Amino acid sequence: MTSYSRRHVLRSVAAVAGGVAAAGYGGLPLAGGTGEMALAAASGGRRGTYPFLEGAFAPVRKEVTAFDLPVTGRVPQELNGRYLRIGPNVLGLEDPRAHSWMRGEGMVHGVRLRDGRAEWYRNRWVRSAAVAEKLGESYPGPVPDGDYACNTHVIAHNGRILTLLESGPLPYEIDGDLNTVGPYDFGGTLDGAFTAHTKLDAEAGELHAVTYSPIWDHVRHLVVDQTGRVTRTTRIPLAGAPMMHDFALTKRYVVLFDVPVTFDPEAAAAGHPVPYIWNDQHPARVGVLPRAGGAARWFEVPRIVYSHTLNAYDDGASVVVDLTTFPAPFYPAGRGTGGPGSAGTPSLDRWTIDLARGRVRTSRLDDRPQEYPRVNEALVSRRHRYGYSAAAAEMFQAYQTVDGVPPDRTFTNALIKHDLIRGTSEVHRFPRHAAASEAVFVPATDPGHRPAASDRPAAEDDGYAIAYVHNPDRNASDLVILAAQDFTGRPVARVHLPARVPLGFHGSWVPDA
Ligand SMILES: [Fe+2]
Repeated sequence: MTSYSRRHVLRSVAAVAGGVAAAGYGGLPLAGGTGEMALAAASGGRRGTYPFLEGAFAPVRKEVTAFDLPVTGRVPQELNGRYLRIGPNVLGLEDPRAHSWMRGEGMVHGVRLRDGRAEWYRNRWVRSAAVAEKLGESYPGPVPDGDYACNTHVIAHNGRILTLLESGPLPYEIDGDLNTVGPYDFGGTLDGAFTAHTKLDAEAGELHAVTYSPIWDHVRHLVVDQTGRVTRTTRIPLAGAPMMHDFALTKRYVVLFDVPVTFDPEAAAAGHPVPYIWNDQHPARVGVLPRAGGAARWFEVPRIVYSHTLNAYDDGASVVVDLTTFPAPFYPAGRGTGGPGSAGTPSLDRWTIDLARGRVRTSRLDDRPQEYPRVNEALVSRRHRYGYSAAAAEMFQAYQTVDGVPPDRTFTNALIKHDLIRGTSEVHRFPRHAAASEAVFVPATDPGHRPAASDRPAAEDDGYAIAYVHNPDRNASDLVILAAQDFTGRPVARVHLPARVPLGFHGSWVPDA
């Protein structure tokens, strides 16, 4: 920290956001009612100038509440809860040239399912102090340092629903109707930054997080207990202030990623909205931190950029991590078009960290473009068989267009189910421009069901993959519910929302207590 204040840095990096994920392509028709004319005028009438403000990315302008949603198919009776997903939705943008997709104010989109019905859809901005001011509302209470409308993930823990952002700001708690409750510091037990991606070890009852900040010379591993208090903080020395968007967890280890995308003080001082850049001088390493205590061990890995972990587990003396990676270099902040840029598309890889031999073996599980890997959450930190990811055509086209690479029009929108034991996959395709993104696995088991001794354990894929999918013909989105064991079959249900859900980041199924 030299010529700029801590507050300035926190502000400028507050929305590192979805990290290296998700985007859109400007060649699509602009969505009506989303400022089309203003954007077209600002770009001199040219299409595609602001890809992260157009098409499937265009922010929505209204908060909507709708009840008794129409459904094609049948909503499964056992799905009682809320599907919540968050993403950036810029508010009050006057000049599209100033837009940074990853810094858009967070908006949560939720659908309430109960007793076989789709009771409601709501979308709500997260009320940070700045959002409240822009909406003409009062902001109750003191404004926390580095305040920002979280836009990257929404999770439930200890009966609270938390919206998350990495690299500085506090989470914001929302209620079951998506109204903002206020900033949340884990009952005063959180010291400093939180993060966007957490891992819940359900067996241990521990929520794990790896937090980072541009003003730290280390990263922190936090353990949050079942009462929502941070019970352990471990500082891991780390030079160069790398972006650390996601991590992985096994029963024995925390897996850390030290990648050559680092904080750039000059960019921050110049007011760059996301001052993290590709850095040829920074190493590419993976670290293994024992959960039981002790120092992290670091291993060199190829110079690529990981984006998200699907899951990880211990296998004898090795740690196995499944993750999505982008070819290098990767520019999280993009190069002038308002969103990330890449010369290639992400793939699904497996890294096997051999702790006995001290080396990492990397292999490609699937070279088709895909992102947003998810697993049955009950298996986080344990060996998994199935994974779910999204082939998000609009996103990959936008990333490549940014770097001047002609987009591959053959990309499709699809959800993929991987069988990582058989090495096979099933693909559920959606129409061109249907803009699919992250799918969350929801177990079919009613959480209130007490298993009897005679019950057979549920299969890992006994449940549903659910996701918002944009329907360009209707200019609105559907909540698509796929039976995970009939993945390519007709959706079990399509809940027709009255509004469009812009391409965004991550979400969770929050079952009723
Ligand atoms: Fe992410």
